[in-house]
Amino acid sequence: MDEKKKHPALILMFGATGDLAKRKLYPALYQLYKKNDNFAVIGLARRPHTNLSFRELVGHSLSTEEAQIGAFLERFYYQSLDIEKPESFLALKELSDKLDVRYDLGGNRIFYLSLAPRFFAPAAQNIKKSGLTETSGWKHLIIEKPFGHDLTSAAALNDQLLQVFDEKEIYRIDHYLGKEMIQNIEALRFANPIFESVWNHRHISNVQITSSEMIGVGERASYYDQTGALLDMVQNHIMQMVALTAMEPPSRFDTEDIRDEKVKVFKSIRPISGHDIVNQVVKGQYIGGILPDGTEVRSYRNEENIKAESTTETYVAARFYIDNYRWSGVPFYIRTGKRMAAKSTQIVIQFKDIPQNPYFYHFEAVMPNLLVIHVQPDEGLSLKLNVKNFDQADSTIPISMNFCNNSKDANYNSDAYERLLSDCLKGDSTNFTRWDEVAYSWSLMDSIVAAWKEEHVPLDFYEAGSMGPSSADRLLARDGFHWWPLSETDPPIRA
Ligand code: BG6
Repeated sequence: MDEKKKHPALILMFGATGDLAKRKLYPALYQLYKKNDNFAVIGLARRPHTNLSFRELVGHSLSTEEAQIGAFLERFYYQSLDIEKPESFLALKELSDKLDVRYDLGGNRIFYLSLAPRFFAPAAQNIKKSGLTETSGWKHLIIEKPFGHDLTSAAALNDQLLQVFDEKEIYRIDHYLGKEMIQNIEALRFANPIFESVWNHRHISNVQITSSEMIGVGERASYYDQTGALLDMVQNHIMQMVALTAMEPPSRFDTEDIRDEKVKVFKSIRPISGHDIVNQVVKGQYIGGILPDGTEVRSYRNEENIKAESTTETYVAARFYIDNYRWSGVPFYIRTGKRMAAKSTQIVIQFKDIPQNPYFYHFEAVMPNLLVIHVQPDEGLSLKLNVKNFDQADSTIPISMNFCNNSKDANYNSDAYERLLSDCLKGDSTNFTRWDEVAYSWSLMDSIVAAWKEEHVPLDFYEAGSMGPSSADRLLARDGFHWWPLSETDPPIRA
């Protein structure tokens, strides 16, 4: 009899031979297994596998040779499945009931849909028809992105899921919510009165959120070309970062209270429409160029499986205003793109300048105070301050106070999927997105897409290996600001 007793559940992994499962989910499950979580997994995909060959596939996805691997892999079972055929779910029900008893899982079930989006709804329907949801324990549905491609399709998908699961049972993944420093935003803001008291339009001049990538579209060309940077990154990850940075303190640190506050932010974002679009949102596409490591890369239009005349944006920058008391008049600038100069996600809070006073003449050149939340690759914080220049009485120099989360411990392993899977096993959906968050975010994206079309907004091209088109610089210059170069925001120094 197995002694592992924590968080028992059967995990039905749809898309078990896919890239995400191999790269992220199996390594995350292995970590949870080592922490004594009690689960068994049924891998589901179309291609044939035996339990043994599936266990080999899972084993190959773990980059370790530890002794426990054998016992971990024994908990993996496989069944070949045609998602659109209800009859292929019947044997699955039988196996699920058997494993439930064998591992003492209490009837708890996670249905993890790591599938092409067109299979989300049929999978949910057939899960229901087969009786898999009639279980003595709880049932959770984890669903990967994209959750729709606009508000209408997202609402239709949501309706179909709600025929099988309650809202509280649906765990919509935004893997950014599993990142350590994204989860740290609330602690930083609400456990430190020195920040919360200045976290408003009186003291903050602007907020800059960057999520840049060096990779191109790789093997996801056909998905990406229909999607673009706005829907691929802004609708979900970037909007969640905006919400967490801007939200009011929740009255209680409970799942629904936190989500309520995020929704209020989404509701307060000023809609973008019509001819306003050209002043608020920049869309770009990369041409060929050279990455910082010297690699020469081709243009987006020359990528494999991308149409030569594609107008899909691989870069977006935007200015949002949050029309509430706290953020009145403070621009939130966001930018994200592929084939940029660095892989980096960070949030820069720029504080207002010191008063312009002739008696302060010698401090004229002071840098604004910046608080930088480094989400990745380094995880930490930098606070940019000014101190007296050591050998000149009348001038200042900028200094940076740094905290680096991932340099404390060489074995530190920060994995978003491990955190999110663990939360789902525990029944904590705080770091998953609720339907109304998703819906408000889609409606904002829809208005941008519609305005782009109506106004025939052209693409601004940028060289691969750069930080995006110059129009994105003008977006800030118009307000008297500039993007803080990643190097000037001082990533924390590794130990
Ligand atoms: C995914 C997008 O959601 O996030 C990808 O579909 C993108 O296009 C990825 O590359 C970025 O995630 P991360 O964790 O590497 O910043």
